Amino acid sequence: MRNNPDILKELNMDFPLILAPMFLVSNMAMMKAGMRAGIMAVFPSLNFRKEGELAAVLDELNTYHQENKSGNYGVNIIVQKSNPLSAKHAKICLEKEVPFIITSLGNPKEIIEGAHAYGGKVFCDVTNLVHAKKCHDLGCDGFIAVGQGAGGHAGPNPLQVLIPALREQFPDTPVIAAGGIATGAGLLSVQALGAIGASVGTRFIASEEAGVNDAYKNAIVDSGMDDIVMTTKLSGTPCAVISNESAKKMGLKQNAFERWMSKNPRTKKWFKTLIQIRGMKKLEKSILPNNYQKLWTAGKSSELVHEVLSCEEIVKRFKKEWEETRKDLGII
Ligand SMILES: Cc1cc2nc3c(=O)[nH]c(=O)nc-3n(C[C@H](O)[C@H](O)[C@H](O)COP(=O)(O)O)c2cc1C
Repeated sequence: MRNNPDILKELNMDFPLILAPMFLVSNMAMMKAGMRAGIMAVFPSLNFRKEGELAAVLDELNTYHQENKSGNYGVNIIVQKSNPLSAKHAKICLEKEVPFIITSLGNPKEIIEGAHAYGGKVFCDVTNLVHAKKCHDLGCDGFIAVGQGAGGHAGPNPLQVLIPALREQFPDTPVIAAGGIATGAGLLSVQALGAIGASVGTRFIASEEAGVNDAYKNAIVDSGMDDIVMTTKLSGTPCAVISNESAKKMGLKQNAFERWMSKNPRTKKWFKTLIQIRGMKKLEKSILPNNYQKLWTAGKSSELVHEVLSCEEIVKRFKKEWEETRKDLGII
């Protein structure tokens, strides 16, 4: 394949799939299931915010990986001034020699240099060519191209444009596609565009292992693409949520005062942090059993999710559909 699939072997991945990092959803059971299935399982460091928790989780995963030798795991770090734990979490991940790191936003320089010192790989979330250039020039090992329709902070550009554009501008930097992929055919389609694999979130929310209540999992199964809307109310940047009573009550757009506070140089840092903490609290309530709050992040691929399955079964289906689609297209 054109686009450096060797890195997948280096990362010990049997199949080109990443179980994408999902705030509040990713947990230890998902990580271990993803590793057993031979893929890359990634969690956001922010899922383990209590003192000592992240280091303990990394020790457990390092031991699990040494014992089982299948698949691999990684950590997502949000490298932004409004994430007060960014530097602390980066230090812990580098000390524990996390094999794979996905950075979101900000300047990933220290993480890239720190991970390269022990042979770790760093991919950066990108939604456009400007941020991609910054990450490329800092020496990242690859891009996670986050396109339209993704769960979480979806990008503004379609993958059909973003992937080939990244390949054209940065031919030596591998691309993993994220957004709207929930089937083996979807995976093959992004490979045709030049990606080496896909990072999949929404499909795995409707998994037996996901750390959220059944109502959220069932909402993924029941929602279609037109039920997914973007809101800036949760974090200040557009985030995909299921349109339900809670989302309607919260609203989709920040008001004029919130927008002003987010732009004013004197207030923007603390105000953005405040908005994000408030958003996190709302999301945290929504994953608990029987909670009235139902602010559920999901991407448009919820349209293609019809049942709750185990993570390993989901990966099996991806593999089967991928093979079948290759046969249908006459690819040997
Ligand atoms: C519930 C949820 C939470 C997410 N949280 C994060 C996060 O903490 N960090 C991150 O980089 N991406 C996050 N994402 C984005 C995913 O890592 C991934 O890019 C996205 O889910 C891919 O699109 P898909 O949902 O259509 O498969 C989240 C996505 C979802 C659905």
